[in-house]
Amino acid sequence: MSFSYRDGVLCAEGIALPQIAGQFGTPCYVYSRAALYAAFEAYRAAIKGRDALICYAVKANPNLAILNLFARLGAGFDIVSGGELARVLAAGGEAGKVVFSGVGKSHEEMRTALKAGIGCFNVESASELESLAGIAGSMGLVAPIALRVNPDVDAKTHPYISTGLKSNKFGIAYEQALPLYRRALDLPQLAIKGIACHIGSQLLDPAPAAEAAGKILGLADELAAAGIILAQLDLGGGMGIRYRDEEAPTAAGYLAALLDLLKGRSEKLILAPGRSLVGNAGLLLTRVEVLKHGEEKDFAIVDAAMNDLMRPALYDAWHDILPVRQTGEGNDERSYEVVGPVCESGDFLGHGRSLALREGDLLAVMSAGAYGMAMSSNYNTRPRAAEVLVDGVKLHQVRRRETVAELYALESVVP
Ligand code: LLP
Repeated sequence: MSFSYRDGVLCAEGIALPQIAGQFGTPCYVYSRAALYAAFEAYRAAIKGRDALICYAVKANPNLAILNLFARLGAGFDIVSGGELARVLAAGGEAGKVVFSGVGKSHEEMRTALKAGIGCFNVESASELESLAGIAGSMGLVAPIALRVNPDVDAKTHPYISTGLKSNKFGIAYEQALPLYRRALDLPQLAIKGIACHIGSQLLDPAPAAEAAGKILGLADELAAAGIILAQLDLGGGMGIRYRDEEAPTAAGYLAALLDLLKGRSEKLILAPGRSLVGNAGLLLTRVEVLKHGEEKDFAIVDAAMNDLMRPALYDAWHDILPVRQTGEGNDERSYEVVGPVCESGDFLGHGRSLALREGDLLAVMSAGAYGMAMSSNYNTRPRAAEVLVDGVKLHQVRRRETVAELYALESVVP
């Protein structure tokens, strides 16, 4: 197990969390290499025998160590900005295995990605198609493209992370895809590689993804009939993980229906998972600063806050909160509001958690490997947390804690 109790103390692989807190302080993100590896292998096993590429969605956790680990396992990368491309290249990722998604790519980002020689631009609008052709032409290059098609399928997830409905800003409407492919065919600066689709995130039921894949395959067949043969199908990411007591699918279970649909087809399959590769491979280690017994509620004020892990505040998301040292029976267990020091009532990590706590205790906020550090900020001039990666009994700091001076180093006062 990547995170488990040993002699009553929560460990990351072979390292006890109090040792990490002692060495690197709190709040601190802790990742397990074995868990990252296992999550990737589960995908790899599920698609074995198919021509396929797993393009890790960098946005979920862009730490260079994590990108490098996946690159060494042969992954490609799904990026949404020039910044993410720079990270992938800095981490040793191959440009040719990069797909560039996103509704608002800037001309500068297009140029940089063209120069780097990325594998595919997932184009999300008619306007982007024209701009990309113009830019590629001016550079004397041909841009490899797929159209990201919006299949109008309800992913049945949180509305903020649902992307495959007509009402969402993402992708090209299904009905507009064929004419736009025809247009792309007319533009010699573009090389049509495939089609792309991503309907949302934290999907626990594989049915909507299979429904979307079915629609995308139907469209690929229509295109073939019109003489447009696609080499690859990018079916995006979205597989959900267990945060609390959800029945989370395995990669094999989630992909089964989709792979069934692909039987007998020769297109290369691209998958772009983020959360399911990193989410349960990380936790946020934090220390109880203050216990405050209010008139109505008991508060555990910890040193991690909404700026470190925004998901509870933004989506009302649940993350398990575990005591790092298990406490025996008969301890004073109470229902705590686990909150941070930030000046917002929305700054909470968990409501009504049964814990027996003393000031100075360590807590682990679980399932924080995806969209945790990635979405952190410096709100309230709080330096961002350190990040460490545990590999068996080896402990590597993969991002040091920011200093306060760094937070205003780019600012200046006016005379
Ligand atoms: N591909 C595209 C085009 C995407 O937009 C996303 C995620 C992914 C792949 C990866 O999806 P995943 O496998 O991680 O579900 N901040 C939110 C999640 C936002 C997801 C955005 N797009 C959260 O904390 O729940």
